[in-house]
Amino acid sequence: EKAIAVMTSGGDAPGMNSNVRSIVRSAIFKGCQAYVVMEGYEGLVRGGPEYIKQVTWEDVRGWSTEGGTNIGTARCMAFKKREGRLLGAQHLIEAGVDALIVCGGDGSLTGADLFRSEWPSLIKELLETKRISEQQYTRYQHLNICGTVGSIDNDMSTTDATIGAYSALDRICKAIDYVEATAYSHSRAFVVEVMGRNCGWLALLAGIATSADYIFIPEKPASSEEWQDHMCNIVAKHRSKGKRTTIVIVAEGAISADLTPITPKDVHKVLVDKLGLDTRITILGHVQRGGTAVAYDRVLATLQGVEAVNAVLDSTPETPSPLIAINENKIVRKPLMDSVALTKSVADAIQAKDFDKAMSLRDTEFVE
Ligand code: F6P
Repeated sequence: EKAIAVMTSGGDAPGMNSNVRSIVRSAIFKGCQAYVVMEGYEGLVRGGPEYIKQVTWEDVRGWSTEGGTNIGTARCMAFKKREGRLLGAQHLIEAGVDALIVCGGDGSLTGADLFRSEWPSLIKELLETKRISEQQYTRYQHLNICGTVGSIDNDMSTTDATIGAYSALDRICKAIDYVEATAYSHSRAFVVEVMGRNCGWLALLAGIATSADYIFIPEKPASSEEWQDHMCNIVAKHRSKGKRTTIVIVAEGAISADLTPITPKDVHKVLVDKLGLDTRITILGHVQRGGTAVAYDRVLATLQGVEAVNAVLDSTPETPSPLIAINENKIVRKPLMDSVALTKSVADAIQAKDFDKAMSLRDTEFVE
């Protein structure tokens, strides 16, 4: 009987609870013991039954309809250091966990990949320092790890959608619809900042869904003169045709061609100074992330949970650790290592100012 543990890590995302519920119940259904690691990697570093807990079928009842993550999450600094990962390995082995499924974003899955690659040297050190026995060393030779992607940012390469992204998008669209009504009443312009870290997916899709006048995304930077003229021409054209509202969406990671940030304040200033528009800034913040998941995320998280358990049960020391993705509406397994490397290559391309490459690596063909 195998013991399968699940943890959520990084920023919470709507649908994480559906994913945990699905993993717990699939594990039990397959005759395994189900565990949850509380508080993300922090719980691994702290260890013990308070943080690595066995759970039952009933413990996750009703979780699909709840927002956030009921098992807690954290951005854990200790796990970024080798000593933290060493403690994590020791605690997993002590708890008798055979496989770990991590539901998190780009950073969390990069951490999972590092943990996997370091595992042989971590357990060797644990044995040498007598923190685990010979018997444990032999039994836990291979770290059976799997990633499911939970993040509102939709910034992980090789999967079309991350768990939570469509819920956040829905919330952003609703908020912009509200703003639109007040903008119309006063004939105002609104600059709306949305989350997404270094990824423009939320801003781009929200722009399309709300028919925004202009958007700024990190993957398509322009020089100050370029964007200022371009934006003003478009907004002025819309206004000249009788439009009473102006909505400009700025991704929080938006940058200009020299990689300096473009902030809502910068955009506000241009709309006021060059077009004389009565302009307000709305930073949507964490309302984008909280609340319940839309149906799509609940279904995605549930199906991916089932596949994650199947993947860890199929795994052999030779199979690469999988990431559970969705491609063209099919739930598929991808090598975690490749997904992490490809995601990093997008960030590298942006830093190298190779924006065309960054765009093509995003897998969002319709962006062009
Ligand atoms: O990764 C999810 C996310 O919400 C990003 O969009 C945002 O940049 C970040 O997390 C905010 O982090 P925190 O909740 O730690 O402020």
